Amino acid sequence: MFKKLSQEFQTPFYCYDQAIIDNKINFLNNLELNFNYNFSFAIKANPNLAIINLFKQKDIGAVVVSSGELYKALRVGFKPSQIIFNGSSKNDFDLKYAVTQKICSINIENIEELKTINDYSREKGLISDIGIRINPGVNAETLSKISTGKSGDKFGIEIDQIDFDMIKNFNHINLKTLSVHIGSQITDHKKLIESYQLIINLADKLNKKGFEIQYLDFGGGFAVIDNGNQGLDFNLWSSELNSIMNHKNYKVIFEPGRFLIADSGYLVSKVDFLKKSGNKNIALLDSSMSEYVRCALYGIDPIIELIDTDQKSEKIKYDIGGGVCESSDFFIRDALLPPLKVGDIIIFKNVGAYGSSMSSNYNSRPRPLEVLFSKDEHRVIRSRDTLEDLCKNEIM
Ligand SMILES: Cc1ncc(COP(=O)(O)O)c(C=O)c1O
Repeated sequence: MFKKLSQEFQTPFYCYDQAIIDNKINFLNNLELNFNYNFSFAIKANPNLAIINLFKQKDIGAVVVSSGELYKALRVGFKPSQIIFNGSSKNDFDLKYAVTQKICSINIENIEELKTINDYSREKGLISDIGIRINPGVNAETLSKISTGKSGDKFGIEIDQIDFDMIKNFNHINLKTLSVHIGSQITDHKKLIESYQLIINLADKLNKKGFEIQYLDFGGGFAVIDNGNQGLDFNLWSSELNSIMNHKNYKVIFEPGRFLIADSGYLVSKVDFLKKSGNKNIALLDSSMSEYVRCALYGIDPIIELIDTDQKSEKIKYDIGGGVCESSDFFIRDALLPPLKVGDIIIFKNVGAYGSSMSSNYNSRPRPLEVLFSKDEHRVIRSRDTLEDLCKNEIM
């Protein structure tokens, strides 16, 4: 399929294998969890309308972190009752938009959000369902740049910073949800369980004090198998989770992003130039950090697949860089690969999450085309930016 697509479309482009997405959904749906729950897709991982729609069709909910994502979720037809709004620093417009759409829960991460939501809800004659994202002080032991649940992190609110009695005085909000999300690419199920347990305890305590917490939002963060790490052990995770949820009547929401979409997605690129610099062999591709920033941003090594290279030849070390004018624009250093030729196709795997969604027009590069394939069929789900698109919103 990659060969066929790379003959039809100019590289670089993203493509997604629908069968893998379906398998991931089935995997989650087949977990044996003994309580009431649902999975909601964290749209930030991949906000393409066609991708979001695949999840909607399988009754997965939607988690948004901005007005733009809320708009997209509504646009593909999610019911407001299926949408949760998170976000470490939502602006007035975000909060007011979420209030008017009457979504399932606006999860606040700053106490001041309560006043804005309450005042605006009063103005509109509404009572808004809200949640509080708790900072549980749990170190997820993932990459430091994608860890969100430690004391000192900007996400959520520490329990001792919340005056719950004061919250009772807001008449136009209904505190219905507690949430946690301690980071991404988490492989240690114990860290997740520790964070869940903390909000279960808090919800029990609050309900004894007259609150009506119905939802526990356990966030996302399930790791996918990447270069150098294992995935999450779902057997251990589910059995410990079943035991801490035993006899609890909360409805649980999970918010996976990466797990649902990462390994269905590929960035297909081409070797444009090969050169020597000192003792380094450098391969420069037609993709760059503008199309896949995670390597430069987090220092992760991508999973690379080559097609049509002579796999049997003796391997050579390459530094593989992109076409952006930044010295940090490298995908990987010292990668041992068969000898490359100009024109070789290089595929980056696991790019379905935080690939296209974190891409940019940096260096005024047109954002790539995206293709969804299913068995032998494929369709374009985003066209490549035109040069005119790059000027569209600018006024000379
Ligand atoms: C609140 C929240 N929920 C869910 C997610 C999805 O995380 P992941 O893609 O690691 O599953 C994120 C991403 O960082 C998030 O911030």
